Amino acid sequence: MLRCNIKCGTAFTHREGVADQGDCRMPTHALSTATPPLPTAAVPPAPEASRGELASRTLAMPADTNPAGDIFGGWIMAQMDAAAGITAARRALGRVATVAVTDMAFLRPVKVGDVVCCYTDLVRVRRTSLTLHVEVWVLHQGQGERVKVTSAEFAFVALDEDGRPCSMPRDGTVPEDCPTAALQPEVA
Ligand SMILES: CC(C)(COP(=O)(O)OP(=O)(O)OC[C@H]1O[C@@H](n2cnc3c(N)ncnc32)[C@H](O)[C@@H]1OP(=O)(O)O)[C@@H](O)C(=O)NCCC(=O)NCCS
Repeated sequence: MLRCNIKCGTAFTHREGVADQGDCRMPTHALSTATPPLPTAAVPPAPEASRGELASRTLAMPADTNPAGDIFGGWIMAQMDAAAGITAARRALGRVATVAVTDMAFLRPVKVGDVVCCYTDLVRVRRTSLTLHVEVWVLHQGQGERVKVTSAEFAFVALDEDGRPCSMPRDGTVPEDCPTAALQPEVA
């Protein structure tokens, strides 16, 4: 399971990843029936694919609901921020802080019992910052087809020990001005 370690208001440190990197659906042994072949004249269009790597997977709980009974958008944003922070810290080889969130779009509601999966895709790396595209897909009640519910762009800045922006690693090399990277040698 994923464990997030968020230092509120300052930065993320990296944590372990998720064993299942490809798909947020449940293990296949939970699906008991084989899908029958479709008639050739009724082939449906290919479903939209999730973008990026699976960075986190969690369960939407009753405590996360708004008064209408749907899951709070703020809770979903927190899941996205934590998942993106893990990916960003891994790329930065150390401490990062969220500096901006743009293009946040809530496409579908999330319900209690949905399995909530965050996917992250690296968009760009600049001198001290990087941007990730983040998508949230759910399995309603942990079953069936995945549905995309939210997407956004998250920007992160690499930070030194004093919380100042420092260089992103290039080609896996630890930058001289970013000593926190040197403290995280176990991160690939
Ligand atoms: C992150 C922080 C240290 C950056 O400080 P700053 O004085 O803005 O630093 P800079 O102006 O040198 O910008 C650093 C990088 O961030 C980028 N950046 C700054 N504001 C940005 C924004 N709104 N959107 C995208 N990138 C932004 C800059 O382009 C620069 O990237 P580059 O070096 O790759 O070109 C500071 O803004 C901060 O501490 N913010 C609070 C972070 C926080 O608490 N996050 C929530 C919890 S993790």
